[in-house]
Amino acid sequence: MSIQRTAVIGSGLMGAGIAEVLAKSGLDVIVREINDEVSAAGRARIEKSLTRAVEKGKLDSEARDAALGRLRFTTDIGELADRQLVIEAASENEDIKKSIFAELDKVVTDPEAILASNTSSMPIIRFAQSTSRPERVLGVHFFNPAPVQPLVEVVSSVLTADSVRETATEFVAEVLGKNPIQAQDRPGFIVNALLIPFLCSAIRMVESGFATKEDIDAGMVGGCAHPMGPIKLADMVGLDTCLYAAESIYTETGDPASKPPVLLSRMVDAGLLGVKSGRGFYEY
Ligand code: 3HC
Repeated sequence: MSIQRTAVIGSGLMGAGIAEVLAKSGLDVIVREINDEVSAAGRARIEKSLTRAVEKGKLDSEARDAALGRLRFTTDIGELADRQLVIEAASENEDIKKSIFAELDKVVTDPEAILASNTSSMPIIRFAQSTSRPERVLGVHFFNPAPVQPLVEVVSSVLTADSVRETATEFVAEVLGKNPIQAQDRPGFIVNALLIPFLCSAIRMVESGFATKEDIDAGMVGGCAHPMGPIKLADMVGLDTCLYAAESIYTETGDPASKPPVLLSRMVDAGLLGVKSGRGFYEY
C-alpha cells in the first residue's frame, strides 16, 4: 500500500507539527479543524515552523512553499472520504476522540485505510472499538516538537492487524524518515510511562518547596544532559496534556508516581497551560 492521501484531525501543538511532517514528506494533507479561526491559527503555526526550518538551514524556501501547497484545511470531516491514512490529534478527551473515530469510520471509504491516534496515553482499543474496523486502528505517537523529534511510537492494540502495524512502521521510517519503536497499548506506552512520573515528581518538588523550578531544571540539564529540565519540558508539552496523561495513567495503574499533583490541576484550571498560553511555570 503506497500512502499518498493523508489527513490530520486537529491543528494544535501536535496536530500542526504532524501535518507539517507529512507535507514536508511530499504527501497530500488535509487538516480538519472545528472552525475557520482555529484553522487559521493552525496554518500560521505550521508556516512559522516551516520558516524556522528554512532559517535553520533544514529546508530551502521552495520546499517550504511546496509543503504549504500540499496542505489544505477543512471543517468538513466528509472531505476525508478518500484518505489512506488519518492521524487523529484532537485534544486529550476520550469522548471527543471516540466520536471522531466513529465519524471517520463512516466517512473514510477505503477499507485499506489506516486510522491512527496520536494520543499520549489513552487506550487505543477504546478508539478502535468506536469503529467497525478495529484491526485498522493503531497509535502513531509523535513527540513535541514533531518536526524535530525523531521518535514515533507505533502502538498496537490487541486487535490491530500485523499488516497494519507493519505498514505504519514502514511508512514512519521510509516516508517520514522518523525512528519507529513498537509499543503495546498500555498506559503511557513506553515513553510517557517513564516521562509522566518524572514530570509529576518534579512538579511535586516545586509544590512542596523542596527546590526551585530553576534549580530542578538546572539539575537535570547540567547533571544528566537533558536538553531541557522537567519543569520547562512540562510547560512545552502543555500542562493540560501533562495533566490528562497523568490522569489517564494513574486511573489505570493506580501508580502514585503518576498521581497528578494538585498544583498541576490548579494551574490548568487557571488557564496556565505553558508555552501555548504564554504562561505556565515560566512566562513566554
Ligand atoms: N523545523 C526543523 N528543524 C528545526 C526547527 C524547525 N521548525 N526548529 C529547530 N530545528 C532544529 C535545529 O536546526 C536544530 O538542529 P541541529 O541540532 O541539527 O542543529 C535542532 O532542531 C534544535 O533546535 P534549536 O537549536 O533551535 O533549539 P534548541 O537547541 O533550543 O532545542 C528542542 C529545542 C528541540 C525543543 C530541545 O530543547 C529538546 O529536544 N527538548 C526536549 C523535547 C522533548 O523532550 N520532547 C518530548 C516531549 S514528550 C511528548 O511530546 C510526548 C507527549 O505525549 C507528552
